[in-house]
Amino acid sequence: MGRKERERAWAPATQLVRGGSERSQHGETSEALYLTSGFVYDSAAQGDARTADEEEGYVYGRFGNPTVTMFEERLALIEGADACRATATGMAALFAALMSQLRAGDHVVASRVMFGACHVMIDQLLPRYGIETDLVDGTDLDAWERALRPETRCVFIESPGNPTMAIVDIAAVSALAHAVGARVIVDNVLGMPLVQRPLAHGADIVIYSTTKHVDGQGRCLGGAILGSDDFITDELVPFMRTTGPVMSPFNAWVMLKGLETLELRTARMCETAARLAAVLERHPALAAVHYPGLPSHPQHALAARQMSRGGSVLALDLRGGREAAFRFLDSLALIDISNNLGDAKSLATHPASTTHQKIGAEARAALGIGDGLVRLSVGLEAESNLWADLEQALHAAAA
Ligand SMILES: Cc1ncc(COP(=O)(O)O)c(C=O)c1O
Repeated sequence: MGRKERERAWAPATQLVRGGSERSQHGETSEALYLTSGFVYDSAAQGDARTADEEEGYVYGRFGNPTVTMFEERLALIEGADACRATATGMAALFAALMSQLRAGDHVVASRVMFGACHVMIDQLLPRYGIETDLVDGTDLDAWERALRPETRCVFIESPGNPTMAIVDIAAVSALAHAVGARVIVDNVLGMPLVQRPLAHGADIVIYSTTKHVDGQGRCLGGAILGSDDFITDELVPFMRTTGPVMSPFNAWVMLKGLETLELRTARMCETAARLAAVLERHPALAAVHYPGLPSHPQHALAARQMSRGGSVLALDLRGGREAAFRFLDSLALIDISNNLGDAKSLATHPASTTHQKIGAEARAALGIGDGLVRLSVGLEAESNLWADLEQALHAAAA
């Protein structure tokens, strides 16, 4: 049995700690950080052979690095993907996943609820290159069916969608997309690694902002693209080698360390988020709490089918609009106000004025992002301290 086969048979907890590790001759315990931009050849002939892909080995940092490879192999194992390529950011992952396969004249369909910069990329940037795009209500299968056509080459899904937590049926949309020959890309940031496995539901490609739960401690930016060997080798790698959106070895090393604790952090964050959602739902200052793990979520049954937990992010709809939301945020004494999510520290965001400011009021209204909406990314602090902070800030917001 080869190394990859042996590692595939391990349970996720073991894969997260040991998967993809390649010890050097020094026998280090922790994975080595190869902080180098280039590699040397033993001979001129070796340079020739490696450049021609006739001999395995590293050539140049933009093409690959041993620390980055260890991270890519570990993430591919836990995602159940053939292969992975790590990128500098989550946005670089989406851009490379799309542009490595799209040509002018192609068509893209995406679910409307998504992170602001992804929305700008699909709605405004792609059309500049002759790629037509349509945004649909991702929860409406008829809308997907109407939008898909023979020229549709890619379908993009973010589920749960940032920040309203709308759920898209990955299996059903994948079946519709495959019927017209399109590939399905899922942004699994809010779905979370280990919790939602889009490839098992029929998706073709998964992308991550590893800036979020994979690092998990708010240190480094990063992204990842996972898919079949054919897609990665024949389409993505040539695109990435030329355009260069690669992850730095230092960031890959930090991400490797992040993966070691991912399962523990995921369980803790999701359990706290589920308990907070259940008590927040009864709070009079809130018109609604959007969390896929709550039975009141309109797609709770679907979420339960495709996610093993409800995730670590919830959205709170404050009565009193922007003023109440700002009073709430400014009253938080423990939880920080930030654009980020997936951190060990709990973070609160006002999407309308930050992450989704640039898409404009009309698009926000279409996405259901009201001025009173606050996104809460639940971290690793004690639930009792988080609840006390939320309760006093909600009291101040209602005053
Ligand atoms: C769902 C989602 N996708 C993509 C991104 C982009 O990731 P990055 O900031 O690492 O480029 C983010 C957050 O920034 C996000 O929340």
